Amino acid sequence: MSTTDSSLFPPGFLWGAATAAYQIEGSPLADGAGASIWHRFTHTPGRTVNGDSGDVACDHYHRYADDVALMRALGLQAYRFSVSWGRVLPEGKGRVNQRGLDFYRRLADALRAAGIKPVATLYHWDLPAALDDLGGWLNRDIAAWFADYAAVMFKALDGVELWATLNEPWVVADGGYLHGALAPGHKNLFEAPLVSHNLLRAHGRAVKAYRAHGGTKPIGIVVNLEPKVPASTSDDDLAATARADAYMNRQYLDPIFFGEYPDALAGIFGEAWPQFPSSDFDDIRAPLDFVGINYYKRGVAKHDPNAQIDRAVNVHQPRSIYTETGWEVCAPGLTDILSWFRDRYGAMPVYITENGAAFYDPPTVPEGGVDDPLRVDYLRQHIVAMGEAMRRGVDVRGYFVWSLLDNLEWSLGYTKRFGIVHVDFHTQQRTPKRSARFYGEVIATGGAAIDQR
Ligand code: FCB
Repeated sequence: MSTTDSSLFPPGFLWGAATAAYQIEGSPLADGAGASIWHRFTHTPGRTVNGDSGDVACDHYHRYADDVALMRALGLQAYRFSVSWGRVLPEGKGRVNQRGLDFYRRLADALRAAGIKPVATLYHWDLPAALDDLGGWLNRDIAAWFADYAAVMFKALDGVELWATLNEPWVVADGGYLHGALAPGHKNLFEAPLVSHNLLRAHGRAVKAYRAHGGTKPIGIVVNLEPKVPASTSDDDLAATARADAYMNRQYLDPIFFGEYPDALAGIFGEAWPQFPSSDFDDIRAPLDFVGINYYKRGVAKHDPNAQIDRAVNVHQPRSIYTETGWEVCAPGLTDILSWFRDRYGAMPVYITENGAAFYDPPTVPEGGVDDPLRVDYLRQHIVAMGEAMRRGVDVRGYFVWSLLDNLEWSLGYTKRFGIVHVDFHTQQRTPKRSARFYGEVIATGGAAIDQR
């Protein structure tokens, strides 16, 4: 393939950038919003690096109009944001908070006025704390609560181009309920499969609510996938690879596409694996219009009997480059996972809903720039790898850089910068990095600028 073969990226291909509410908005309690589990978590001593919180973040709640103008100047065609459930429904259910809803209306209107397609994610991890008090994702009623909230949003934001129900259910269950590094910070093997199941039920019920509403734009789910490759050809490592794949990649997609969990999960969770009512799968497998794939890295699996859950550890590759979050840079893994997805689940349209990297960025220079060659290289390699998957017939419809802005990287606080736009968190000054200009050229040339250095 020639990397300058721009015909790979058809005219309707959507080039955008992504963010999430709690990571950028700030003012989490403004205008009658209800607190989220992330607000509680970051205000619990010891939970985040430097005690960082989303209290101010990028102050996007107040600066959204300027940020939309910035997106327009960069040439973005689409913007993936998430809605904070508790801004709209402070108790998570029941009463709608008009002022919270209006914020997202204003944002979507501003985007459309700027010619940028709004792409909305309904759940990017900031569960209303009031629902957590009722058991949160452990309570089976959450499927109905989520569908009701989703219906409010479908009605309010009729100009949204693509809807995503959940962002990365695996991270919600694994980080939030098993390892506890993310909100709500539980560490309980028995909770993780229940949470995953309720996430999937909630997702399916929201999709059904969308159909009942008569929504005509595509709706899907966003999952994070990693190709799992064995560290060696030993039987142990091959088995560990299969477990890691079932746990991370197939745990969510198999129920959605096939109406059942991978058999391997019962072995992985052991006595913590519950019996689920078979009728739940009628909701879970509600037909989708697309799947959003977040791709950051691959996993090199080595058998380790002491590793929790899948008894697999990720092996460091001495010849690879690693990002500031310790993630291996492996662009061919994006081609592999897209091909894997198509081979296993069929010809479903796909969007790359997140892809990007945290690297150490040098200080802004007086002329107002940030030179981030490693991020430029990361993006270039991954866009080429996506193009290669498309050449092999995978139906990729769009690509979203993570992230538009440097932001709160969850428990890692503000220490990891993923933005193509630098944010000075003291002054809130936004400065496009070289990667933003590079990406703008990629968009303007329909992908042809990918070869420019
Ligand atoms: C993803 C999350 C996103 C961001 C990136 C770096 O797992 O969806 O919010 O934290 O990782």
